[in-house]
Amino acid sequence: MSIITDLSDAFGEAFAALDLDRAFGEVVVSQRPDLAQYQCNGALPAANAARRNPRELAEAVAAVVESPIVDAVSVAGPGFINIMVTDEALAARAELLRRDDRPALAVEGPKKIVVDYGGPNVAKELHVGHLRPAIIGESVKRLFRLVGHDVVGDVHLGDWGLPMGQLIVELAERRPDLPYFDESASGPFPSESPVTVEELNELYPVASARAAEDPAFAEAARAATVALQSGRPGYVALWQHFRGVSVAAMRHVYDELGVHFELWHGESTIASRLDAMIARLEAAGVAGESDGALVIDVARDDDTFEIPPFMVRKRDGATLYTTWDLATIEDRIETLGADVMIYVVDNRQSLHFEQVFRAARRAGIAGPDVDLDHAGNGTVNGPDGKPLKTREGNLPLLRDLITDAVERARQRMDERDLARGLPEAERAGIARLVGLAALKYGDLQNHRVSDYVFDLDRFTSFDGRTGPYLLYGAVRMQSIFREASARGLEEGEIIPAKSDPERDLMLMLLRVPEVVDRAVAFRAPNHVAEYVYELVASFNRFYEACHILSEQDEARRASWLGLVGVTRRLLGSLLDALGIDIPERM
Ligand code: ARG
Repeated sequence: MSIITDLSDAFGEAFAALDLDRAFGEVVVSQRPDLAQYQCNGALPAANAARRNPRELAEAVAAVVESPIVDAVSVAGPGFINIMVTDEALAARAELLRRDDRPALAVEGPKKIVVDYGGPNVAKELHVGHLRPAIIGESVKRLFRLVGHDVVGDVHLGDWGLPMGQLIVELAERRPDLPYFDESASGPFPSESPVTVEELNELYPVASARAAEDPAFAEAARAATVALQSGRPGYVALWQHFRGVSVAAMRHVYDELGVHFELWHGESTIASRLDAMIARLEAAGVAGESDGALVIDVARDDDTFEIPPFMVRKRDGATLYTTWDLATIEDRIETLGADVMIYVVDNRQSLHFEQVFRAARRAGIAGPDVDLDHAGNGTVNGPDGKPLKTREGNLPLLRDLITDAVERARQRMDERDLARGLPEAERAGIARLVGLAALKYGDLQNHRVSDYVFDLDRFTSFDGRTGPYLLYGAVRMQSIFREASARGLEEGEIIPAKSDPERDLMLMLLRVPEVVDRAVAFRAPNHVAEYVYELVASFNRFYEACHILSEQDEARRASWLGLVGVTRRLLGSLLDALGIDIPERM
């Protein structure tokens, strides 16, 4: 299906015919589109290995290569092979893509994949630190889905640690009359939460500051956490309220952002597995005692730096973050049948995941056929290159970042006179989509592991590599279609190009399989982000050059409309995979 694959096969064949390794036949998109469409650089290493002259070898390959889609082959420089494909082949393949773009993207052997992203802690408001995991995780999930895998996203709430005990103790001091603190009470407890989310947001920082300063408070919080984890009814009921009000608020912000989780699991989800898992680890001799704690030695002889032991249980008997992640792997395999788990979590947790994954392997929880992968992300920085802060020095809240982006998008639209004359509700809706596209594209255009500078002025511009530029292009494609159908014109078969912009657009469209493969393989949506920009830019050049609706040649016009159609649909699926929605008009 893919041109690159077919050309690589043909050139591999040619190398084999000269008694050389077929792998040298690998073809790539040309770095110099002015000289060639594709190129094969294998003659250089092949000549090196065979102690032959690279240029002569390249000539020999060019002389024997056989492919119905190759139009011309020439040798350049020290032995690069430049390749041009026939216009017939380009048109035929663009036409296949026009009829159905799924085969170009589909994988063989779909897998069950869990993407773990979000990771917010209960009782804390979503802030800038949650932006990247949300945007990248959602996109990774959608990319895997686009190619045909069975994927679920799990928010994996931080809901089982010490902060829960701190909240309980703080609230117990403030409102001792509440029924949850009576040790002998077994319920039922009130169904209404004793605190609102605003109260929770106020309680949490106070409680955690106190725990840091006051040893007695810290000890009480620790004891309350243990009691909660062992199922004390009043605490469990109260904790459910904390979790409930907090989740409702988080859900709202994630909804605003267009980020949706199939699973709202958390650290607590696997609580009932812990005892049995730990007993098995001990019985199998995988976990052993160290200083009163229970640990798994996960170091390896070939480690280049020290990997500390993996903590299963602390000296005081409590389980911890590490334990819960290990049990979660077991749970995802047993209850979801997961083949692949991808964690879109801050780079700074890479040691943690290295330990968890090693522990899971060593314990036999994840066999060799299960893929565990930390797809780490970098930070969002301010203009000073340091993690973004508000003027007061706090972490900006996610909802404020969204509001700012949408407001800025609205101003930009007004400057450009966009969406003028549309009803106010629609304009607000468009500004929302433009603002979100700006925010998401500003993030996704960077490789996930890099940090980037948060610059709403740049992100919301309608020029350059931005979300608004892409949406403007997509809307233009839609309006060409509306206009065409108003005139009774329809898209038709794509025929061989007669101009460069037309040919270039076909070449660009036909790159999509490799782009998506790369994004999936590296869990790196930036490959798709980069490509959609190139695609829209290529489309815009085509649109400038080819006056579609006034074209008199009927077959040509239908073919051009066909190119608009395939570009529009492909762009739509790829933007959707980035989590970016397109307005109807603007
Ligand atoms: N709640 C964690 C934190 O705030 C992030 C969770 C990431 N996911 C995971 N499976 N550990 O640091």
